Amino acid sequence: MMLPGFLFLLFLTDGVYPERNCSYQDVLNHLNLTKNNELYSMSRPVKNYKHPTQVYLEVLLYAILDVVEKDQKFIPYVWTVVRWHNEYISWDPNEFCGINNVSLPTEVLWKPDLTIEEMTEKDKAPPSPYLTINDKGDVEVQNDQVLVSTCMMQIYKFPFDIQSCNLSFKSIIHTARDIRLQPSDNSSEATEWSREGMRTQYEWLFINMIVTANNASNMVDQDIVIYTITMKRRSVLYIVNFLAPIMFFLCLDLSSFLISDSGGEKLSFKVTVLLAVTVLQLILNEILPSSSNRIPLIALYCIGIFALMLLSLLETIVVMHLMEKDSACEDNDAHKDQSLSEDCNKQRKANLHNCHGEEHKWTECACIYDVSTSETPCELLPVAKEDNSSKLTEEYHALEKLSDELREMEKTLSLLLSNRKEGEKPCYWTKVAKKVNRVFFIFYVTVVTLFLIIIFVQWNNADGVIAT
Ligand SMILES: *[C@@H]1O[C@H](CO)[C@@H](O)[C@H](O)[C@H]1NC(C)=O
Ligand SMILES: *[C@@H]1O[C@H](CO)[C@@H](O)[C@H](O)[C@H]1NC(C)=O
Ligand SMILES: *[C@@H]1O[C@H](CO)[C@@H](O)[C@H](O)[C@H]1NC(C)=O
Ligand SMILES: *[C@@H]1O[C@H](CO)[C@@H](O)[C@H](O)[C@H]1NC(C)=O
Ligand SMILES: *[C@@H]1O[C@H](CO)[C@@H](O)[C@H](O)[C@H]1NC(C)=O
Ligand SMILES: *[C@@H]1O[C@H](CO)[C@@H](O)[C@H](O)[C@H]1NC(C)=O
Repeated sequence: MMLPGFLFLLFLTDGVYPERNCSYQDVLNHLNLTKNNELYSMSRPVKNYKHPTQVYLEVLLYAILDVVEKDQKFIPYVWTVVRWHNEYISWDPNEFCGINNVSLPTEVLWKPDLTIEEMTEKDKAPPSPYLTINDKGDVEVQNDQVLVSTCMMQIYKFPFDIQSCNLSFKSIIHTARDIRLQPSDNSSEATEWSREGMRTQYEWLFINMIVTANNASNMVDQDIVIYTITMKRRSVLYIVNFLAPIMFFLCLDLSSFLISDSGGEKLSFKVTVLLAVTVLQLILNEILPSSSNRIPLIALYCIGIFALMLLSLLETIVVMHLMEKDSACEDNDAHKDQSLSEDCNKQRKANLHNCHGEEHKWTECACIYDVSTSETPCELLPVAKEDNSSKLTEEYHALEKLSDELREMEKTLSLLLSNRKEGEKPCYWTKVAKKVNRVFFIFYVTVVTLFLIIIFVQWNNADGVIAT
């Protein structure tokens, strides 16, 4: 008989509680927590104003949405959790079916007025509509927001740069007397959780998130919690799209030394390559902010290569000028040669007419020519002389044809000869131009190599400084 009674009692107690105080509204009624209860929403929830409200902050970085170097803007997507204690809230969960937390609209309770110093634009999305209270009086608000914040970018090492952006949380009006702000996560936790939750990182690689608590030294100052987000740029695309093309243009410029200096091709080729670098420089100008006080290495790289190419272009112009000087003298020489041969031709023609009658005069003329070319006609002629007149004219025509051919041969030969002569003993300015070309090429290659080494060492160094 005892056992069923005990069971009945158990059933009764277990059955009565749920029916009577088991809804969230019962909890709120118990707390007298209604929308226009001034006790909760008007003032800081402490029974003695001398108690500061401890506010605990937790920040998670969910995404790096954008980094605009030009505008010095950093746009992360963050999740913030703020916790504090409300001294008016407390209940016994045993009286309310074990309910130990209740969600309610955010406007019902007082909230700390936290802001982010770097924020330049209010988030357009409405904040989370609910907060959670528990039986001990702890209140928790969670919020996710897209932060548009300013961040001073160090672009000296661009695109091998590491950026650190601060998010400084503090109260707008409350001093340390009212609100003590503290981070509830340490740096390693914040980094770990952010890394786990990271959705997208844009062109960046999230490195870590350092939490710094700046405690107010006196009661009229404010506590500030600073989250420093450090990230590294993924530079591969910049190397492929920017550094490599410029390097290729430099190689093209180097290879243009193989183009002959005569004619304007070399000049126009170099100008084209120079213009290509200018286009890339324009693109660079759009990426980098003009506010940097130190000239970024990439700008130095660009302008340095541009200057080197300009130098080589100038050298080409000088060399071409020298060659021009020489070609004028060569022209004179050629003219002289031509006139000489023309004279000779005239003489020969005149002699050829005489040749019908007089043999020795033709020989005389032939002897003016180069021995190798004029020997044959001289020898042929005596045979022709013995024949009759009709045969003679025939012979004469054949001879003229032959002599024409010979003349052509002679021309090519003389050209060849003159060419060989040039190689052996060129005009003075061509010699100088060739020397200048050779010396400049060695100088150019040396300077380019040195310049590139210095720039890349600098880039590397800068990286090392950041890492240590
Ligand atoms: C239910 O809550 C009200 C108000 O707090 C209280 O007066 C009442 O005793 C509670 N009922 C039970 C069964 O605990
Ligand atoms: C609840 O609040 C109302 C008005 O805000 C007040 O009149 C009433 O006395 C309060 N009840 C309790 C139990 O505090
Ligand atoms: C809120 O209460 C439910 C059950 O009552 C529990 O599962 C949950 O963990 C509680 N949440 C917090 C934040 O305490
Ligand atoms: C970011 O915060 C750290 C830690 O307080 C500070 O040393 C650094 O100067 C801040 N950087 C900027 C850009 O404000
Ligand atoms: C951060 O907090 C976790 C747990 O609270 C602890 O294990 C870890 O040692 C702390 N790290 C630092 C750097 O304080
Ligand atoms: C700031 O104050 C909190 C307690 O209020 C303490 O735990 C923390 O170590 C203090 N930080 C510094 C840097 O003094």
